[in-house]
Amino acid sequence: MNALHTDRIVVEAIDLTKIYGDGKAAQVRALDGVTFRIYGAEFVAVMGPSGSGKSTLLNLVGALDRPTSGQVMVNGQDLSRLRDLDGFRARTVGFVFQMHNLIPTLTALENVEVPMQGQGLGERVRRKRAKELLDRVGLADRAHHVPAQLSGGQRQKVAIARALANNPSIILADEPTGNLDSASGDEVMNVLEILHSQHDTTIMLVTHDPLVARRTHRILMMQDGKVIHEDLVGDTYTEDLKALARSDLGQAVLGGLTLDALSTAESNAMRSILARVAS
Ligand SMILES: Nc1ncnc2c1ncn2[C@@H]1O[C@H](COP(=O)(O)OP(=O)(O)O)[C@@H](O)[C@H]1O
Ligand SMILES: [Mg+2]
Repeated sequence: MNALHTDRIVVEAIDLTKIYGDGKAAQVRALDGVTFRIYGAEFVAVMGPSGSGKSTLLNLVGALDRPTSGQVMVNGQDLSRLRDLDGFRARTVGFVFQMHNLIPTLTALENVEVPMQGQGLGERVRRKRAKELLDRVGLADRAHHVPAQLSGGQRQKVAIARALANNPSIILADEPTGNLDSASGDEVMNVLEILHSQHDTTIMLVTHDPLVARRTHRILMMQDGKVIHEDLVGDTYTEDLKALARSDLGQAVLGGLTLDALSTAESNAMRSILARVAS
């Protein structure tokens, strides 16, 4: 198990606000004063209903878009002061989207090499690194297949290998399992877990699937452009307990209280009641 590098702040967002549209009537406050940090080797999920601002947040962290106000720093660099945004995106962040966006005429290997072009690497070095990355995501034996010859899950793994091409400080994944059946989604999550646990890759993952989010270490819950709640993911028992506490049954038992609102004694009592209900 890898250690969390709390001394290394990879992302720091301060009071981030993004307003779309200029006419007053048409304005959308997609992000409304969001502040958070992501540390080195963290695996963080961003959850929340559709339209709550998850993609907007990820795009600001990856400098695909600029905030209306507030600040994002990646590796201590204030993105608003960066002159070379293309260079930043190529070297510092690796994006994985819901749609894999692979180039259909290129093989898996060639797709992984694309971001390495123009980074001063020779052809042999690029090829070797692309092979290593395909191996890392478990696709060494599919290197010479074009996307149409790969399954959805395999394409998404190629997209992950491509995102790793320039050894970024963070992987930003926007619903990477959103288009996959649950078995393929599970495989893609296995790859992300391996990257995280064996290679200390820092990952920020947007998902609306609680089962996916539970496989990360921390969940930022968004609603209406705000982070309304932050949750450390615990063991399965604690997570089941939390899910039960949020359910109608749990809320009926708790009388509208949340587990957090209870004292330790009450919470322990609640655990044993819920455990009995659940068994
Ligand atoms: N380019 C845009 N122009 C106008 N409104 C946008 C744009 N992108 C997103 N929005 C709006 O901002 C809000 C947040 O969107 P988004 O970040 O995509 O949410 P999520 O990813 O959580 O579904 C939504 O109300 C959405 O309609
Ligand atoms: Mg989105």
